[in-house]
Amino acid sequence: MRPEKLVEMALEVREKAYARYSGFRVGAALLTKSGRVFTGVNVENSSYGLTVCAERVAVFKAVSEGEREFVAIAIASDSLEKTVPCGACRQVLYEFSEDMDVIMADRNGDYEVVKLKDLLPRGFRLGGEEH
Ligand code: THU
Repeated sequence: MRPEKLVEMALEVREKAYARYSGFRVGAALLTKSGRVFTGVNVENSSYGLTVCAERVAVFKAVSEGEREFVAIAIASDSLEKTVPCGACRQVLYEFSEDMDVIMADRNGDYEVVKLKDLLPRGFRLGGEEH
């Protein structure tokens, strides 16, 4: 799937963000190795710390549907600057696919692609046998 399509999906789903407190709406579109796309939005809460980012919503949707191998994730917000994933989301993505592409878009759909492992050098992984 072309990056432009994933960016378009991230921008579209952004409209569903529940960003009542920050006003910062984020959308994500996660492409799995099997070719499925899972979208996510940020979901805020009046107990602020319970907020979940768009990227993690997309990952948890995918994993709960049996998908664990990711090719790319597009992230977009209302900002004119390209939206980068927070540190927590980098680590959550790294758990599953350190080689994936992170597509960071601005609200006009212009984007930049970076490998997750370049955004999170030496991300944490448990050694030893597969879990
Ligand atoms: N947010 C995301 O959804 N993804 C990011 O990569 C950065 C931050 C959300 C969390 C919160 O709802 C709002 O953006 C402001 O931090």
